[in-house]
Amino acid sequence: MSEQQKFKVTIDNITIDVAPGTSILNAARQIGGDVTPPAMCYYSKLEGSGGKCRTCLVEVAAGSAADPRPMPKLVASCRTNVMDGMIVKNITSDKVIDARNGVVEFLLINHPLDCPICDQAGECYLQDLGYDHGKEGTRYEFKRRTFGKEDIGPYIQLHMTRCILCYRCTYVADQLTDKRVHGILDRGDHSEISTYISKAIDNDFSGNMIDVCPVGALTDKTFRFKNRVWFTKPVDAHRNCENPKCCGKATLWLRGEEVYRVTSRKDEWGEVQSFEGKPGWICNTCRFDKKKTSDWTVEGITKIGRHSVIGANKYKTLVMPNETIKEIMGGRDPRLLMDIHTISEVNSPVVHLDKVPGAPHQQDFAHTADIIKEDTDVAEQFGKPEEKE
Ligand code: SF4
Ligand code: FES
Repeated sequence: MSEQQKFKVTIDNITIDVAPGTSILNAARQIGGDVTPPAMCYYSKLEGSGGKCRTCLVEVAAGSAADPRPMPKLVASCRTNVMDGMIVKNITSDKVIDARNGVVEFLLINHPLDCPICDQAGECYLQDLGYDHGKEGTRYEFKRRTFGKEDIGPYIQLHMTRCILCYRCTYVADQLTDKRVHGILDRGDHSEISTYISKAIDNDFSGNMIDVCPVGALTDKTFRFKNRVWFTKPVDAHRNCENPKCCGKATLWLRGEEVYRVTSRKDEWGEVQSFEGKPGWICNTCRFDKKKTSDWTVEGITKIGRHSVIGANKYKTLVMPNETIKEIMGGRDPRLLMDIHTISEVNSPVVHLDKVPGAPHQQDFAHTADIIKEDTDVAEQFGKPEEKE
């Protein structure tokens, strides 16, 4: 069988080979790190998702090897497939950064700034985007959009003012549950997520809507206001769930021995992890009814991204690498080792900073004083640089 043809795509100057039909976003995810555009509506495990929020916009500097013309407008990377020889710019494009700043500003126009009381704080993608691309103030002078309170059932709390209309929860309802009873009603500025006749969203897999919601519009009623996410400690656990559609693998969010919340396990993109090629959705029984550690087999601490606020203060023992130069050089001795003091004229070993009365200045360093003197001599010889008035 002939080897499958691959497309070469360059994103932010990094070239990789990907299968035809891969979107720019997924190609960037294969590279990883900052090269990957943020995605608020695309969710790889939900068919048809993407193309709504515009946070993933990128610049296509060359369409393909066959037709290297740039694309005239920025494109949604989650909905644009790569072509062979395509050149894409994400963080290396000023246009993209500018557009993303604008998108974030638009997303925040109606979004309440209630992070201090929002249960999603600490794991909210809009909060992260706000920090990365947001402005410190708003230019919006009109009244923010508000909605009437709506009860959508015993497990899920809907805060419509926080919704960014990403449609992910409607895809979960369509693709995971037997019947979708909610959707987006009305148009334009009036659009809202609703169950229409306030019918409760109550079926076995509805809890997954909470996990896919990128903001705090859908939160877990059993966890609401009980704790801040960064005070809890996530551990991976599993149980033998009788529901054949439930993967039984979850993250338990503990405080001491108490299980405050159960969620599906997330990957580095904030999406539910896959197990044996299938998305690891969990059923409502595992999520809402199994709130004792004895219900689960705990596997160990969940790996949390280095920069996540959730990891703060959890891992008390910082393990310092015990490496020597020889070890990091693969067992070889360095050819030359230099003492910083023999080549640096600033960090003189004879100057004890703790003995200098008050704050040390340049003059306190013997060598530095010589350099200053040399500079002064040169200045006298060639004249001082003109001082500004
Ligand atoms: S409720 Fe959440 S998941 Fe649903 S459309 Fe709004 S932001 Fe997206
Ligand atoms: S992630 Fe691409 S448009 Fe929302």
